[in-house]
Amino acid sequence: MSDELPSPKKRRPFWRKRVRRSTAPGSHTPVLLAEVLAALNPQPGHVIADCTLGFAGHATELLRRIAPDGLLIATDLDAANLEPAREKLDAIGGLFTLHHANFAGLPALLASEGVQQVDGVLADLGMSSMQVDDQHRGFSFMRDGPLDMRMDRSRGRTAAEWLQVLTHEELTTCFRDWGDEPHAEAIAAAIVRQRAVQPIERTQQLRALIESAAPVRIDRTPGAPPERKQRLAPVARVFQALRILTNRELANLQHLLRLLPTILKPGGVAAIISFHSGEDRLVKAAFRAGLRSGVYATISDTPIRPTFAERTANPRARSAKLRWACRALEETSGTM
Ligand SMILES: C[S@@+](CC[C@H](N)C(=O)[O-])C[C@H]1O[C@@H](n2cnc3c(N)ncnc32)[C@H](O)[C@@H]1O
Repeated sequence: MSDELPSPKKRRPFWRKRVRRSTAPGSHTPVLLAEVLAALNPQPGHVIADCTLGFAGHATELLRRIAPDGLLIATDLDAANLEPAREKLDAIGGLFTLHHANFAGLPALLASEGVQQVDGVLADLGMSSMQVDDQHRGFSFMRDGPLDMRMDRSRGRTAAEWLQVLTHEELTTCFRDWGDEPHAEAIAAAIVRQRAVQPIERTQQLRALIESAAPVRIDRTPGAPPERKQRLAPVARVFQALRILTNRELANLQHLLRLLPTILKPGGVAAIISFHSGEDRLVKAAFRAGLRSGVYATISDTPIRPTFAERTANPRARSAKLRWACRALEETSGTM
């Protein structure tokens, strides 16, 4: 046996570790699952609303715990998610109903099921791994595809259409406010110039435009994050902003936050996972206001983050933040 130690040069630096970027069928991992279950504490007989069904990662575990006589009511804007999710939930048994609907319309949807209030509400915001991995949906800047980005493909403007109609100022505001992009104005100007010549309809067209408009500083000091990541940053931020705009994500979340006190039973819990600072700010503000007014008895004081192990195993969990709020049994008059 050789006692030669492996040469350090041959070892891959930690950031170059091969990470699976696309989701293999059936291998979807729900984010912060243990933490969501701890917050919602689902029990047999409970009625739970999963606002963002996706690939039923959380829904499967919720249904398992509330079966046999509990009821899971789940919604998703993306009709393509419903059938794969139904197959997974059928395998668990128990009672569930799935709806192709916006969670902003939850009260009407609950009423259609004969339900007024629920024991738990989960919203795991943003896009699902199936949406990112399908290049024909236009969510990913990694591969070429049509700039669609709609979660609900049955209605609304596509991202390409938004790029055609917004003014320079509106594009700048979108990239700055929802993408935190420092070069928002330059990128918006490049879009306005380009669309006068030819519409921007493909993901790679937009990516090339952003890369040419946003000068990128590459930090070469030892220990600095990988250069590639820095090169991608403006592209990632603009794509995120455009997705938030296309799907009215912040407006939908604000609507849900306003509804929660009316659709939660006394003692019921809402758990919200966000991936963007703008979303987290809205959730934090709404939960704190509810605590002050006495609508909520307790809320998570700080956001719950994925463990190091989860972040390493599932890179998509990296920016996730979970907050929860428990509705008061009796509302006291608060200080709002
Ligand atoms: C992060 S994924 C959810 C993943 C899911 N928790 C799981 O474990 O499989 C978010 C999902 O929410 C859906 N979605 C986003 N906004 C929505 C809204 N306003 N109403 C209903 N569904 C929405 C998206 O289409 C997407 O499928």
